[in-house]
Amino acid sequence: MLTTSFELPADVLRMRQNVKWRKYGTDVLPAWVAEMDFAVAHPIQRVMERMVADQDYGYPERGGNHGDGTLVAAFRARMASRFGWDTDPALILPLSDLVQGTFATILALSEPGDGVILQLPAYPPFHEAINSTGRRLIPYRLEPGSERYGHAPGSLADLIDPTTRIILLCNPQNPTGRVFEHAELEEIGRIAIERDLVILSDEIHADLVYAGAKHIPIATISPEIAARTITITSATKGFNIPGLRCGVLYFGSQALKQRFHNRFPARVLGSPGITGIDATVAAWNHGQPWLDAVLEHLDANRRRLHDFIATELPAIRTLMPEATYLGWLDCTRLGLSGSAHDFFLEHAKVGFSAGEFFDPAGHQHVRFNFATSRRILDQILARMAEAVRSNQRG
Ligand SMILES: Cc1ncc(COP(=O)(O)O)c(C=O)c1O
Repeated sequence: MLTTSFELPADVLRMRQNVKWRKYGTDVLPAWVAEMDFAVAHPIQRVMERMVADQDYGYPERGGNHGDGTLVAAFRARMASRFGWDTDPALILPLSDLVQGTFATILALSEPGDGVILQLPAYPPFHEAINSTGRRLIPYRLEPGSERYGHAPGSLADLIDPTTRIILLCNPQNPTGRVFEHAELEEIGRIAIERDLVILSDEIHADLVYAGAKHIPIATISPEIAARTITITSATKGFNIPGLRCGVLYFGSQALKQRFHNRFPARVLGSPGITGIDATVAAWNHGQPWLDAVLEHLDANRRRLHDFIATELPAIRTLMPEATYLGWLDCTRLGLSGSAHDFFLEHAKVGFSAGEFFDPAGHQHVRFNFATSRRILDQILARMAEAVRSNQRG
């Protein structure tokens, strides 16, 4: 079988000290947390090796501004070249942890008891950011259509009451893989303006969009929408460096930034370390050829997953994601007695992300991370099919 230069075998992956490969026993193939089983781009590896060789571990000086200068420049160049988005350096806040940025935004721009709209199903820390801070989670459901997930037209406005403050968007969406179109984003923006909501847009998966879809940062739709939008992004998902902890919060206006900092002075959030800064700059400035090759591989994997389910496991319903390396599998028709996650873990020895963490009603769903080698993907699929067959026989 042909393998690409970034694919890694299971024995190498098991040596890594990461949660993905250490959470379960060695009999389990992990397909859960959002990181890829791939070697990183050479430009990233080179900056890491240089840093180690030079023992360059001091407070960073990389283009001024406490080391953030190169990061700010790389972010601006990347947003301009990929999305035609002209960003203002004064409105960028580098930080190490995007989930922290989500929590901070919710804490800064709403009060306990206020409503935060969340697309469901949703990345579990979003639930936590709303629930653990005493805000009210207002579900904005994504329903399966014939080819992709979508919101029922006109359903957003009815969700908003006088204490609703924020709409938390995830675009591209984790876990459904939807990439929202211009008209959809414009409609969300229009309602946010009419009802005076802040838009918190997590665009961390924007690099992982397949041909046929196009990522549009919601802040580029209009200056009025931008003025009430905080965008959160990083190179960590697209370039597979989540452990290096580096990202960016972008405020669409000075007024929004000021409101945020009235509650959270920048120093409260800390700042990225040198590994995160250098790797992110290398990724954004020089990593695209690697990402293009990875996307080609992921595209083949997403098709393989989709076709396999259609032919071998037709009781499972899934729609091909437009972006991300995550499949959202509805296993309701398997008629399992417990949760789908527990079934596949016990009977297939495959560790998916449990659907109930994404949606309280999602225990018959699993999220399938297919960013792995073709060999491991095929092993996972074979294990799933065998487990389902045995269950039907038994
Ligand atoms: C939508 C989304 N936001 C944020 C993150 C994680 O960001 P960080 O690790 O920088 O907190 C993830 C990771 O999977 C994600 O899918």
